[in-house]
Amino acid sequence: METIIRGIEGIEEAAEIIRRGGLVAFPTETVYGLGGNALSPEAARKIYAAKGRPSDNPLIVHVSGIKDAEPLVTEITEDARRLMARFWPGPLTLILRKTERIPRETSGGLDTVALRCPENACALRLISESGVPIAAPSANLSGKPSPTEAGHVAKDLGGRIDMILDGGPVGIGVESSILDLSTGTPILLRPGAVTAEELSAFLGQKVGIDPAILSGTVSETMHPRAPGMKYRHYAPEAEMYLVTTRLFRDRGEAIGREERELSDRRTARWIRERAERELSEGKRVGILCVKETRPFYPPDSPDGTLSVKVLGSREEMLTMTRSLFRLLREFDEEKKDRIYAESCSDRGVGFALMNRMRKAAGMREIIL
Ligand code: TXA
Ligand code: MG
Repeated sequence: METIIRGIEGIEEAAEIIRRGGLVAFPTETVYGLGGNALSPEAARKIYAAKGRPSDNPLIVHVSGIKDAEPLVTEITEDARRLMARFWPGPLTLILRKTERIPRETSGGLDTVALRCPENACALRLISESGVPIAAPSANLSGKPSPTEAGHVAKDLGGRIDMILDGGPVGIGVESSILDLSTGTPILLRPGAVTAEELSAFLGQKVGIDPAILSGTVSETMHPRAPGMKYRHYAPEAEMYLVTTRLFRDRGEAIGREERELSDRRTARWIRERAERELSEGKRVGILCVKETRPFYPPDSPDGTLSVKVLGSREEMLTMTRSLFRLLREFDEEKKDRIYAESCSDRGVGFALMNRMRKAAGMREIIL
């Protein structure tokens, strides 16, 4: 199959493809999605096949607003309605009980459905023009980092899908927050740019955190609430390690300026020494740091065996979330054997960033 690549002028053609049952990758504010008609079992099957994704892992259904959501769920609860009014369009996915209109193929056999209204003009127009809700997982091959630009989609899914709408690089770079409203207490199943603190404050009740987020793993017998949790995710080819100090780990943001500098220097020294040793053993090494600590590391080696990449400035969390998956892909292309990444703050959106970093590192974290 030839994959057509178009700019946003291709939206009408894309909508036609969706209506015909085909697949179109499109930009959202979080990551690129791989879209198909959410009401069609065949389209859902094609999505699973293109991604190489197990079909018991349900898809997120994208709508253009509350009105579109109504026929898809048994009830839009009071909490759900308030959350939609406040956070849609935006990076918040809500799980509600589904109606018959959503086929089992789309919901991965569950009796609930994940709904999301993306804050991206191209995505919203595509949904409206198609005239159907659009089921879309992230547009990566299963097990690869989510795509944050059209080129990533082309690399993973070129030749496997009908079309890619190129809307440029995304703004957020980590997937939406997922909040389960289908049972008593609202539970956060995946952290994203809308934080648990924000949701708790808005709802006036504490939002629960799914244990799978904290442990990062799900045992064979555990039935994860977000089935996606049980699969290996966001993983680069290299073996990745997060590195931090006990000082930073325990005190986090409360750490003072001088202690912070001490902690940064200790972390960087450990990473430098480890990298040197592995380079001398013939390994290819990547280092992921922040703008503030870049001076503590050597320049990239001309032969490409060592490269140091900057996630962004600590002062701007969104530059960091936006860069993570792109940089992990770059390390893959450079065929790195090891990646050492400085741990970041867990606070606010940092919780989503660190969640993706911990998963990429298979939960390996070295504490000095
Ligand atoms: O930001 C995003 O949400 C992106 C863009 C494209 O919108 N989409 C995305 O989809 O990240 P995906 O398929 O990569 O992740 C969907 C996650 C999976 O972990 C899945 O298990 C969970 O949502 N999920 C979907 N429906 C669910 C349901 N009914 N109950 C529990 N978890 C659900
Ligand atoms: Mg995904």
